[in-house]
Amino acid sequence: MISGQFPATRLRRNRRAPWLRAMVRETRLTPANLIWPVFLTAGPEPEPIATMPGVMRHPLGALAGLAREAVALGIPALALFPNTPADRRTDDGREALNPDNLVCRAIAELKSATDAIGVMTDVALDPYTAHGHDGLVDAAGHVLNDATVDMLVGQALNQVRAGADIVAPSDMMDGRVGAIRRSLEADGFVDTHIMAYSAKYASGFYGPFRDAVGAAGRLRGDKATYQMDPANAREALAEVALDVAEGADSVMVKPGLPYLDVVKAVADRFDVPVFAYCVSGEYAMIEAAVAAGMLARDRVVPEMLLAFRRAGAAGVLTYHAPMVARLLGA
Ligand code: PBG
Repeated sequence: MISGQFPATRLRRNRRAPWLRAMVRETRLTPANLIWPVFLTAGPEPEPIATMPGVMRHPLGALAGLAREAVALGIPALALFPNTPADRRTDDGREALNPDNLVCRAIAELKSATDAIGVMTDVALDPYTAHGHDGLVDAAGHVLNDATVDMLVGQALNQVRAGADIVAPSDMMDGRVGAIRRSLEADGFVDTHIMAYSAKYASGFYGPFRDAVGAAGRLRGDKATYQMDPANAREALAEVALDVAEGADSVMVKPGLPYLDVVKAVADRFDVPVFAYCVSGEYAMIEAAVAAGMLARDRVVPEMLLAFRRAGAAGVLTYHAPMVARLLGA
């Protein structure tokens, strides 16, 4: 028999009913915590992506509808990723500077549909280079830092002139945030938000994304000389410190779930918003398990995204954004 005094503290008391659990809940997930990554095609029809079931490359004509859907769902921003036509990919990635490229046309479409949503663009050369690297490559195959930064500055300005609200350098070159910030200021774009992919790891989880943007099979070598070693966490803090000092308005950790310790360390240490990118491979894992009848999507996706919030993330880039927003709104 349990005595009358045992136990005085019963933590289960706070779990007794839904209203009580809601009252003591420490973290919340809302659609405002979601950023929706959107793939673009120059073709006229939506294109399925074999390794990302349920995700499409969207034609320009579909974007106004997508933007209105995001607004209705309470999703604050879209992140754009172009599948550049093969004949526009060159070793120097110059299509990134074309004011009429796919991303710039997409920004214009979105902005003419609504100004109630933020448009975020990726700054990196990989959708435009024939070799699939995020930067310019020398004869020995090395990715050049400073020459690449010059291109990235031009790319970012090109996107901002087209109307981008947030530029997100994902290339991992040294000094690019400062260089982009200086050029934006010099050009009068003082309100453009820079979300720096500060701690971006050289990860196997980007595989399906590379299919989506047509980079799979192109890449010579790997990205380990610029993206971070998955073994390192302290180095992530050094990357974040530099990006904040160079003028980043928010920072990002990527991939997501396997790097929640890094999200937490960055959130504990820095006073800028921290975002996480739950990447294509993470999406594919969930969808494969759901398709096999092994997991219930509606249970595990919100649980996963809540874990990012618990770790300290202000928000998450996730391909599940519209699905979760719908669920949260229901
Ligand atoms: C490219 C970029 C990548 C992702 C976002 N921007 C891929 C890479 O670095 O190879 C990955 C996103 C995902 O996997 O969902 N600069």
